[in-house]
Amino acid sequence: MRTQVGIIGAGPAGLTLAHWLKKHGISSVILENRSREYVESRVRAGLLEQNTVDIFKDLGLADRLLKEGQEHHGVYLNFDNHRIRVPFGNLTGGRNITIYGQQEIVKDMTDVWQSDGEKLFFEAEATEIIDIETSNPKINYTFEGESHTLSCDFVAACDGFHGLGRKTMPKDSYGEYQVTYPFSWLGILANVAPSSEELIYAYHERGFALHSLRSNTVSRLYIQVDNYAKVEDWPDERIWEELSLRLATENWKLNSGPIFEKSITPMRSYFIDKMQYGRLFLAGDAAHIVPPTGGKGLNLAVADVKHLVDGLVDYYKNDSIKTLDNYSSQALKRIWRAQDFSNFMTTLFHKQDEHGSFQYQLQKAKFDYITISEAYKTTIAENYVGLPFEAF
Ligand code: FAD
Ligand code: DHB
Repeated sequence: MRTQVGIIGAGPAGLTLAHWLKKHGISSVILENRSREYVESRVRAGLLEQNTVDIFKDLGLADRLLKEGQEHHGVYLNFDNHRIRVPFGNLTGGRNITIYGQQEIVKDMTDVWQSDGEKLFFEAEATEIIDIETSNPKINYTFEGESHTLSCDFVAACDGFHGLGRKTMPKDSYGEYQVTYPFSWLGILANVAPSSEELIYAYHERGFALHSLRSNTVSRLYIQVDNYAKVEDWPDERIWEELSLRLATENWKLNSGPIFEKSITPMRSYFIDKMQYGRLFLAGDAAHIVPPTGGKGLNLAVADVKHLVDGLVDYYKNDSIKTLDNYSSQALKRIWRAQDFSNFMTTLFHKQDEHGSFQYQLQKAKFDYITISEAYKTTIAENYVGLPFEAF
């Protein structure tokens, strides 16, 4: 089989890339090693930046997102059971965030792609990427028990943190940065009306908590747990008890209800400083991970895709390799920004040392400053909703 751009991975990065290239008349084929059911039931992100929503709208992929997603105009921050609100509005020039589950946008993109008769193979595992230093790279993959080859002009590895793309790049072709945090997140989905119309990020002496939502009847919540925690250690009653303590403020009550999903996510910052080798390009989690505090991962994946599309369009329309060659340096500006913001939100709201320690006092000093400063609120708001593409 032959196509212009061979894409590995049908997550947010791979699917967005395929749709965007199609809009410019560039063909692609997607290989995904998991089943459709698995991909569509993998519960992850929920926070979409303004840029991301605008892109899905432009690509004609936002019908359901605009109906079922919830646009938020501010966010609550809690510290030691005291709550403040950071409004977006004037601080962001009217830019907002939208809450819509990652697996829903993945479902929407898959439906449109397949109903247009485009090629996406589930349970097709990329096993080898070869000839990346030539103008005709190839992806070897297995599908229905047989070996196949996808021959292309470029390979886009949108295959997540554990994918094949990064492993294929020569080790000495990039620098690597990594931080592992000494805590994890336990995330739940529960059949209960959200207790707040906007998200709440909380520092508490017992640890971090986040209140998010998916709809008027489904709440999404997270708590900081240690790196050795197991889901079995956390029966429902224990989770609700911790959440109520950590999120509490005066005159506010947390609604609890049946939990139907529980999972634990480790927290790390990771990225490489060159996302291209020859004709192989990496996008999304394949090249970088941010800790989830602040909701940047999916949004960064979509931003990488924007820069990759700019490069591929320049190549196919103008026969120029210049924009493609700048892909890494262009994408990295936003990646560094997101790494900093995600690390800032993580260190501000997680318990890292004894309550009352020097580290705690620094966290509290930041929170107290945010409370009184429009400038600090603006910094948080503009990073949170995502800086416009014109910024970088
Ligand atoms: P993935 O979604 O990982 O997709 C990669 C795909 O490649 C997978 O489907 C995989 O099966 C496939 N694949 C891998 N190897 C192969 C192979 N050899 N052959 C074929 N296919 C292969 N981000 C936000 O922006 N906002 C949030 O609110 C947010 N919250 C989060 C909360 C949690 C608890 C977690 C865990 C993450 C969160 N994120 C958030 C991060 C976000 O989910 C990821 O950044 C996003 O999934 C990245 O998309 P991707 O397409 O790069 O990678
Ligand atoms: C969600 C996840 C995040 O990491 C975040 O910062 C905000 C919201 C969510 O899943 O809704």
